[in-house]
Amino acid sequence: MKKVAVFASGNGSNFEAIAKTKFRNIEVKLLICDCATAYVRERAKVFDIQTHVILPKTYETKEAYEEEILRILKKEAIDLIVLAGYMRFIGPTLLGAYRNQIINIHPSLLPAFKGKQAIKDAFHAKVKYTGVTIHFVDESIDGGQIIIQESVELADKSLSDLEAEIHQVEHRLLPQIIQELLGGES
Ligand code: GRF
Repeated sequence: MKKVAVFASGNGSNFEAIAKTKFRNIEVKLLICDCATAYVRERAKVFDIQTHVILPKTYETKEAYEEEILRILKKEAIDLIVLAGYMRFIGPTLLGAYRNQIINIHPSLLPAFKGKQAIKDAFHAKVKYTGVTIHFVDESIDGGQIIIQESVELADKSLSDLEAEIHQVEHRLLPQIIQELLGGES
């Protein structure tokens, strides 16, 4: 059985999509959350998934914060870290320990529209297509090796319709890629 840890900071719809997937030989072992008020914690309760709220401000350095997370990941023998709306950069401590074992989902066709407002930015730029990218995490910002991309056409969609469609794609793609990375074809 392979074990997955999800990191999330806010709403957690991607976390939920993962939590409710019936994987083959994969267990969603735990949630790491860096925000005490994040709604994702409520979702984790429903699925009875072990949650660790680790608040960066209570650590003197980023290294100490990440070492605390690493201790939990090692204790549970985590195989893959999935960043699903985790609003922090991963530092050398976690990157060193989990090289090529950390993936992130981003709501644009990277390298276009990096950053936190990717859907809005693409919408206002009036591009013909935007989409979803899942990539490995490295030292760069939204720049690691791309695993999969799927495009979504803007056409004459409203911003909220576009957001909804992108999230639908995310919720389908992320569990699929986790299964592929850890257990062959889904
Ligand atoms: C998603 O759009 C994801 O691509 C981005 O942050 C958002 C998180 O949404 N990294 P949610 O918390 O999973 O609902």
